[in-house]
Amino acid sequence: MGQMRLHRYIGQSGVTSRRKAEEYIRDGRVMVNGETIVDMGISIDPEVDVVFVDGTPVGLPSHQSYLFYKPKNVMTTLSDPQGRKTVKDYFPPSSTGLKPVGRLDYQTDGLIVVTNDGELAAQLTHPKWGVEKEYEAVVRGVPSHKSLDKLRKGVWIEGGKTAPAIVELVAGKEGDEQSRVVLVIHEGRKNQVRNMLSSVGHKVLSLRRTRIGPFLLKGLRVGEMRKLGQKEVAQLRKSLG
Ligand code: URA
Repeated sequence: MGQMRLHRYIGQSGVTSRRKAEEYIRDGRVMVNGETIVDMGISIDPEVDVVFVDGTPVGLPSHQSYLFYKPKNVMTTLSDPQGRKTVKDYFPPSSTGLKPVGRLDYQTDGLIVVTNDGELAAQLTHPKWGVEKEYEAVVRGVPSHKSLDKLRKGVWIEGGKTAPAIVELVAGKEGDEQSRVVLVIHEGRKNQVRNMLSSVGHKVLSLRRTRIGPFLLKGLRVGEMRKLGQKEVAQLRKSLG
């Protein structure tokens, strides 16, 4: 894991926020290896150094992350007032603090990351990191070259113009009743893919997310959760730079 700043370590341990941790350090409430530290700038090695706050040892929570193949007709929430199935119904029994990252529509199936690692969740969703999300949509009709180009350059939907995207027609030819379109986007706006396609006149008949950054849906069965290894999470972080 390597070195990390002391206030960040305390923030991640959950005893207080990162910002408050700076105050704690300044106020002399933090000890590292038996010594009171008031220097905000220091870094520690979480695997070696022992940190106490107000005389109590603190540590990093163990992070767990999973890839999940959300089936159709499952809510991306932890509970549903209407009693519909939610992603929580698929969590491992001993899970604590796990949450789905981002949201897929009730009718959309495909890949979701589930984690208790707040930093990872933020990196996967915040536009600043631009993590790619790949979707496969079956649409009514066949988008023309012109429509595909519009989608690539950006279209106006609720919430503004979409950022440039990769868009390819992968099945269907002129005159077909339906066709298949692959889109790679790095925003995550509500109903984005459905709204993009309907803005050029094509209703989405079914939608599946097939990739998030380096993580692929391929290899998972519907409803399956697979634990991500530390290496895979590290690989993602590395790809973000
Ligand atoms: N775009 C949509 O329209 N729906 C989803 O579930 C995901 C992306």
